[in-house]
Amino acid sequence: MNKSARNSLADPLLRLQAEAELADEAAHAAPPHTTTLQRTEHELRVYQIELEMQNEQLRQSQVALQASQASYMALYDQAPVGYLSLDGAGVIEQANLEACSLLGLVRGALLQRSLSDFVATDEQDSFYMLRRSSALHGPAQTAEIRMVRADGARFWAQLVANTSSVSNGKDVLHLVLSDISERKRKELERQGMVKRIEDLSRRLVQAQEEARKRLSRELHDRTSANLTALRLNLDQIVKAAGQGPDATLFWERVEDTRALIADTNFSIRDICAELHTPALDRGGLLDVVQSYAQQFTKRTGLPVLVDCAHGDVRIERFLELSLFRIVQECLTNCAKHASASTIQVAIALSRTPLRVAVVDDGCGFDTTLSATDARAGGHGLQNMRETAEFLGGKLLLESAPGRGTRVVVLV
Ligand SMILES: Nc1ncnc2c1ncn2[C@@H]1O[C@H](COP(=O)(O)OP(=O)(O)O)[C@@H](O)[C@H]1O
Ligand SMILES: [Mg+2]
Repeated sequence: MNKSARNSLADPLLRLQAEAELADEAAHAAPPHTTTLQRTEHELRVYQIELEMQNEQLRQSQVALQASQASYMALYDQAPVGYLSLDGAGVIEQANLEACSLLGLVRGALLQRSLSDFVATDEQDSFYMLRRSSALHGPAQTAEIRMVRADGARFWAQLVANTSSVSNGKDVLHLVLSDISERKRKELERQGMVKRIEDLSRRLVQAQEEARKRLSRELHDRTSANLTALRLNLDQIVKAAGQGPDATLFWERVEDTRALIADTNFSIRDICAELHTPALDRGGLLDVVQSYAQQFTKRTGLPVLVDCAHGDVRIERFLELSLFRIVQECLTNCAKHASASTIQVAIALSRTPLRVAVVDDGCGFDTTLSATDARAGGHGLQNMRETAEFLGGKLLLESAPGRGTRVVVLV
């Protein structure tokens, strides 16, 4: 036997074990022979035992290798994210079960397909850039792109890319694929809400601006004529005083001046009451609505019935203020547009949602028209609706020509 070939096969430890086993056998056999033939026979026997031992070791390694492969395969397939391995042309070479289920095909049908078949048309560039930056810039390049399942359903996916070189020198792109549709949906929803809040804030500022304009216009309209008349009266009084006593003209002017001052005072008080209702500082919503309703009746002659079961319940101040402004706008609308004979305000604060309703028996109107027709009027209804939404509630409007109007706010 060639000695070097023998050595290449044998591990010194194995040889020792084989010698020991043979010695064990020999102890139970005939005494040792010392001829060349007997020595060669001994060598061959040792070699045979060595080979058998090596064989057994190989078999055990193979079993261990298979077990570890099976456990890696189970981990790979049962991973909660998709794993894909692509060749340089983007063709799928390996896919775990989650990747198959995300893309909607069984593994047999998925392998050898190009992954770009599952990328939405308008995202192909992003996918290309991901592959490129993974090759250029190294591990963990990430992209969020829209993908299309085999059945055509779209979903948002996050792709994390890692490129590695395999033994034949070719690059393999490993991708971790996860469905992030739910996160994207929430993100879009949140963006929508932020936009809506921005719009609402803008509208709120606009509404305040309009209120200021209306105030200045009303102040002007309702007081400037009186003030002009006052000035003219004073001129005449001064003139009459200078030309000697003309008692009739003098006293006439003085009386007129008094009346004008009283009227101007009344107008200014009226406008101030619209802008700020002192009762709001002292009492709850019911107090302020009742107090405002009394003033309203005095001014317009329209009776207002205020109904509230638990009037002593206090709610947050900004809620009280906002609900009062809504009632105020409803009553103003009744006076301006409704030609009603009675108005009812019902307030329920001890229930959830809170409910405030203003109902009139006036002429009513076509609500579809007023929502779309820019000529339909100001922004009163729109502001009321937005205020209710701003408070996290809603406004219901029921009206029809000849059928009165009902405004209900639920918060
Ligand atoms: N109580 C009501 N009765 C009849 N019509 C109403 C009533 N409330 C509102 N409207 C109608 O809806 C329109 C829009 O109201 P609103 O938005 O408050 O604006 P404005 O009061 O400045 O006209 C009014 O012009 C009117 O035609
Ligand atoms: Mg109005």
